[in-house]
Amino acid sequence: MHVKAPWDMTVNRRILEMEYAVRGPIPRRAAELKQRGRRIIPCNLGNPQALGQQPISFYREVLSLVEYPVRIGRERRLKAWFNGGALGGPGAHGGPGAHGGPGAHGGPGVHGGPGGRGGLEQEDFHSDFVLDLSERYLSQMETGMGAYSDSSGPRFIREAVADFIDRRDGADTGAVPRSDPDQVFITNGASEAVRYVIDLLIDDESDGIMIPIPQYPLYSAAIKRCGGVQVDYFLDEESGWALDRDLLESSLEEARRRGVAVKAIVVINPGNPTGAVLAEETVRDVVAFAGDNGLAIIADEVYQENVYGADARFVSFARVLGRRDVPLFSVHSTSKGFYGECGHRGGYLEIRNAPRIRNTGLSFTDLVLKQASVNICSNTVGQLMMYLLVNPPPENAEPYRRFTNERRTILEDLHEKAVMIRSGFDQMEGVSCFGRTGAMYLFPRLDRLPEGTNDFDYCMALLERTGLVTVNGEGFGQQPGTSHLRIAFLPPREVIEEVLPKWIAFHNTYVN
Ligand SMILES: Cc1ncc(COP(=O)(O)O)c(C=O)c1O
Repeated sequence: MHVKAPWDMTVNRRILEMEYAVRGPIPRRAAELKQRGRRIIPCNLGNPQALGQQPISFYREVLSLVEYPVRIGRERRLKAWFNGGALGGPGAHGGPGAHGGPGAHGGPGVHGGPGGRGGLEQEDFHSDFVLDLSERYLSQMETGMGAYSDSSGPRFIREAVADFIDRRDGADTGAVPRSDPDQVFITNGASEAVRYVIDLLIDDESDGIMIPIPQYPLYSAAIKRCGGVQVDYFLDEESGWALDRDLLESSLEEARRRGVAVKAIVVINPGNPTGAVLAEETVRDVVAFAGDNGLAIIADEVYQENVYGADARFVSFARVLGRRDVPLFSVHSTSKGFYGECGHRGGYLEIRNAPRIRNTGLSFTDLVLKQASVNICSNTVGQLMMYLLVNPPPENAEPYRRFTNERRTILEDLHEKAVMIRSGFDQMEGVSCFGRTGAMYLFPRLDRLPEGTNDFDYCMALLERTGLVTVNGEGFGQQPGTSHLRIAFLPPREVIEEVLPKWIAFHNTYVN
């Protein structure tokens, strides 16, 4: 008997219903336009290198050497030759122009001329620091970049992450317990870390997680995928997107009245899409709120380096938590900050006060490990990126100056670009942008949209007119009756200078 192939079928309804506006219909339309040859400026994602940000040289030097270790030895030999020694190995004659003993050529910078060493300078070679680090990394990895690693990530990397957290939070003072490498997982970006936690927290349809509104839609999507309840708490826009304890209490109370078993609260600090940076007192309030109500905290701290201006300061949840016993899951990523290595998919999850699992001898950490084990391990390039992120070159190392210059340039540039775009809003009728600048985004409110249109229509029209890809406020959640858009302030300055006047002109025509 012929059985008809299932050309249509039912699928996981939760995945069907999941939404992720950051890659939704507006970017899809942008892709169509691009295909037809239109210039597109993709400000829908916090994807810095897609908009021309250059990678930090130090990271890429190590990455390239570790992926092809033969080059480490070759580089050492070339350097020795350049510095006046002979090329090692059988039959080595010292290479072109390599006569004379060490120092015979006068050291760095004097070899550029005709008959010299191909116009090379000392800076064209990897520093000894980079070569030593690459070698040491590989020897600690033991099995190289092409082998599976431990599921939670190689132990020396987890130790390096724990040291970074301790340095960041001042664990030496004794006020904050030391980070435990056994409670650290190296993950494929922060997204995977968040999924590990949410997949475990949601057991049935009555389990809920509090998330900020507006939020980064990873959270709504992850909750939807697990069939749990998204419990919204609103941020107060006109107070600079402040997080308010009374609003937390009322949102929790209302959810509990509906029979939702609320298990955790998500806090994104600095915020996406709002850019808001939480004050220490606010972090303290959240910790107290979670402690008083038996909730775990999911602290999304991927933008911890993206605070701008002298008076802005990031304070981690781990630091404020101190010795309190509230479960804390904090995530970080190699995608953001000044590094912007989104494609390398590095992240970590750190767990504090892991809950015990009822009626088992297990802890939450055991079950995260089980999930990581099913994935076998995170990608090894992302692991290396995370190792480098938590181990910047020290002050006395050769790459230090260049590294700190590159870091400063990127962060200053980001801040200046945010200021440029914000000042453009002043020339747009009915646009206000609250709060200080943080993360990589601005989230202005659009108060004068024409009757019968919404922020989606606006963003679509903006794309058609200018090529700018933004995401409408609804994609992140917003107070009913308000309209917003989110723009990542990442394009090169000259692109902003060119497109901003077009946006202003488009806006003032559209709203009138
Ligand atoms: C708040 C927030 N958390 C997590 C992520 C995901 O980061 P990753 O690239 O490490 O998965 C993003 C990405 O934009 C984000 O904005």
